[in-house]
Amino acid sequence: KPYQVPFARLEALPKNEVLTDQFGQIDVYRNEAKLGKARIVPNMDTPVLGYEGKVPGRMISVEQGTRVQMAMRNQLPEVHPTFGTPTRISTHLHGSASLPQYDGYASDVTEVGQKKLYHYPNFQSARTLWYHDHGVHFTSQNAYSGLAAQYHLHDPMERALLPQNEFDVGLTVSDMMFQADGSQLWDDRSHSGLWGDVILVNGAPWPVMKVKRRVYRFRVLNASISRSYNFSTSPAAPMYMVATDGGLMPVSQNVSSWRHGSAERYEVLIDFSGFKAGTRIELRNASNPNNRDYDNTGKVMAFDVVDDGFDPNDPTARTIPQSLNPGNDIMRLTPASSMKVRNIRVERSDSSQQWMLNGQTWDDVIKSGYTSVLANPNVGDTEIWEIENKSGGWFHPVHIHLIDFRILSRNGKDPFAYEKGPKDVVYVGEGEKVRLIMKFGDITRPDHLAPRTGKYMVHCHNLAHEDHDMMHQFSVGQGTP
Ligand code: C2O
Ligand code: CU
Repeated sequence: KPYQVPFARLEALPKNEVLTDQFGQIDVYRNEAKLGKARIVPNMDTPVLGYEGKVPGRMISVEQGTRVQMAMRNQLPEVHPTFGTPTRISTHLHGSASLPQYDGYASDVTEVGQKKLYHYPNFQSARTLWYHDHGVHFTSQNAYSGLAAQYHLHDPMERALLPQNEFDVGLTVSDMMFQADGSQLWDDRSHSGLWGDVILVNGAPWPVMKVKRRVYRFRVLNASISRSYNFSTSPAAPMYMVATDGGLMPVSQNVSSWRHGSAERYEVLIDFSGFKAGTRIELRNASNPNNRDYDNTGKVMAFDVVDDGFDPNDPTARTIPQSLNPGNDIMRLTPASSMKVRNIRVERSDSSQQWMLNGQTWDDVIKSGYTSVLANPNVGDTEIWEIENKSGGWFHPVHIHLIDFRILSRNGKDPFAYEKGPKDVVYVGEGEKVRLIMKFGDITRPDHLAPRTGKYMVHCHNLAHEDHDMMHQFSVGQGTP
């Protein structure tokens, strides 16, 4: 089954119009969540929920400073055609410091037939973001069925350093399983997770991509519901990590493999220049503990080296930049600047089969009238969050909305080389403890964008955990609740 179909690049969603207000221009994208069909299983249609009915969702690509308005209309059927679950949606642009009302708050749902306007400021540094569904308690079904898409934010620094256009390639990796009629199978194993036997890259099972003999930049997004990967190439190709969730790392890091949890984005340069045309290089998955593996889940995609030409004057074709963004303010935060250390425990309740953060579920947050918070920093505060996995044999990719953080330590030691960059998801492995440092509501921003105050979510990005019910919130600049 692997390596039968050609690789497909992510398609771009075109902008529909340009508006102007007192601050300047706003690019408008109209988007619709609706039912579609995907061809994944040979000769069979798989019903999917997609933005514009497409899987994978179409990508948005913008320059830093472009303000974007996305009009998201919910045109889905009232219940999911395969799973029978409700189809109210909330759209989150993951990686964006959006105002709370545009952040895709789980309970801020758009019912079928309605639409919501989202505003995205795009003032942050270049990075790979993604927009995906965040509807309360049914995010996993909605995202699994296709409501997920990459979103690329460019800036001049990144444009000058890294491969662009044809050589800047988004890879959205996910897994699925199917029923005999070609529809998706859902089984979250008592809310522990969903592990499919088919690995998809940009919606195609184990595709094959032709590559020229030069350096490529891959923006790898793990959009799987639960599966984590341990990626490597075979035969081994030179690989350099250059960006993490929040954009460019201070310096590039040579890697031979990396562990990659749900929702994490890693930008990796792979140098194919040393291979002869005709060589096939596989992207493999060595897996991690507590995933479920099948015959072909160790394979992801293949690169077939071809002898086609490319512009030899393109400086990114052959060189790997060493220094990237040494001045990144997140990466320069030091423990001495932190005002507070917060402890967050990840646990599972055996009686209710619910996942919790500091003993609470999202339902507990709802029952509190949304007054219960894990943290209440003021604008401008720097904090250390220590996340401890007390849930036994499970791993959790924990995502904090709004901010980028730096991983100070993992089990008291240096973080992995490839995660020494600005992050917004941290892999908290079995029994692990991570220390993160972050700064809230940037008050130094010299633009019309208000500091971000209000409530934001923090949750596990294993979406089966998130929905049951490993999600909580923090509030910025609102004092003590
Ligand atoms: Cu990628 Cu709260 O989500
Ligand atoms: Cu989890």
